[in-house]
Amino acid sequence: MSEKNMREIVLGKFHEIFGPEGDIRTYFAPGRVNLIGEHTDYNGGHVFPCALTVGTYAAARKRTDRKLRFYSVNFEHLGVIESSLDDMRPLADKGWTGYPKGVVWAFEKRGMKLSSGFDFVVYGDIPNGSGLSSSAAIEVLTGEAVRDLYGFENATNQDLALIGQDSENNYNGMNCGIMDQFASAMGKKDSAVFLNTADLSFEYVPIVLEGKKIIITNTNKKHKLTDSQYNARRSACEAALAELQTVVDIKALGELSAEEFEKYKGAIKDPDRQRKAKHAVYENIRTLEAVKALKAGELERFGKLMNESHVSLRDDYDVTGIELDTLAEEAWKCPGVIGSRMTGGGFGGCTVSIVEDGAVENFMKQVGEGYRKRIGYPASFYVVEIGGGPCRLD
Ligand code: GLA
Repeated sequence: MSEKNMREIVLGKFHEIFGPEGDIRTYFAPGRVNLIGEHTDYNGGHVFPCALTVGTYAAARKRTDRKLRFYSVNFEHLGVIESSLDDMRPLADKGWTGYPKGVVWAFEKRGMKLSSGFDFVVYGDIPNGSGLSSSAAIEVLTGEAVRDLYGFENATNQDLALIGQDSENNYNGMNCGIMDQFASAMGKKDSAVFLNTADLSFEYVPIVLEGKKIIITNTNKKHKLTDSQYNARRSACEAALAELQTVVDIKALGELSAEEFEKYKGAIKDPDRQRKAKHAVYENIRTLEAVKALKAGELERFGKLMNESHVSLRDDYDVTGIELDTLAEEAWKCPGVIGSRMTGGGFGGCTVSIVEDGAVENFMKQVGEGYRKRIGYPASFYVVEIGGGPCRLD
């Protein structure tokens, strides 16, 4: 749906639920897809995501009292969920409102106290739970709205990313890295963000895919255990780092070259944990190489590294599962596919593929049929475009 339509829907719903009077403002924040560099962002490595033109929209208005009232067009059956600035305890049963509330909590923690509550209606066109960061989009969206409504101009877009991550880690219990919030808050049209998560230095790299499309394929997998599995992977990397630190002076796995890892890996006693660390180290190296290849116009090489990334996530990091593996493996068999891999946290969610224009139709048919045959239900396909960061719409 177009931006205009999305804005009209979210504003119309706001009028219906909370009334049309007063200073109602509308905002947008994008979802993201990561091209390469998976599970490296909490290991001081590099990532290469881009913001999408799909994302989450909000209509918001300040209140005169301390209430916070939330409504999602994506979860209409939940109705209005009410909270208060005087009760910012994280409550698991508040569902999706943990995301905007966590952002308010993180603003206040940084001394930016809200002078009153607000009413908030959101509507997203990112498929929920697809691994395209609908949660980061809501966090950055809330940050954009709160900054604008309450005049916190000193908060930069990078701060919005850090606030989003803080709220996700410490309010919502998901120990994610910085990638998703950074990609959403700092996105730039037609560019990917080449981010060094060790120090947050970054560079925009134009994505010029002449005659090719970025296709996202959703596994539509129903049950996900992402949070607990994700946190377990992160702990394994931390344990491996602690073991390595007994033999080499490093602060993060992302500092190691392949040669150094091979030299010191014996310090990681558990073979399974050693494979996890291996992924973190080699995926970072792949990401550096992939960006270099892209800059040199070597798209084939970029695609090959995407495929290798998937194999490593499947065999070493163990975060793919039969659904994502089927999508990637079917894609690799199709003509005109430059590269294909899982994107995001894994355990379900989506793959990202770069496909030649003339091969797109066959890709959807062939991968779709192969997937349905093996998994028993259909996958969904989206041809996506790279968009900009968050903004006020009116
Ligand atoms: C999720 C997290 C990110 C990142 C990816 C894996 O999307 O939110 O921080 O760790 O998984 O690369």
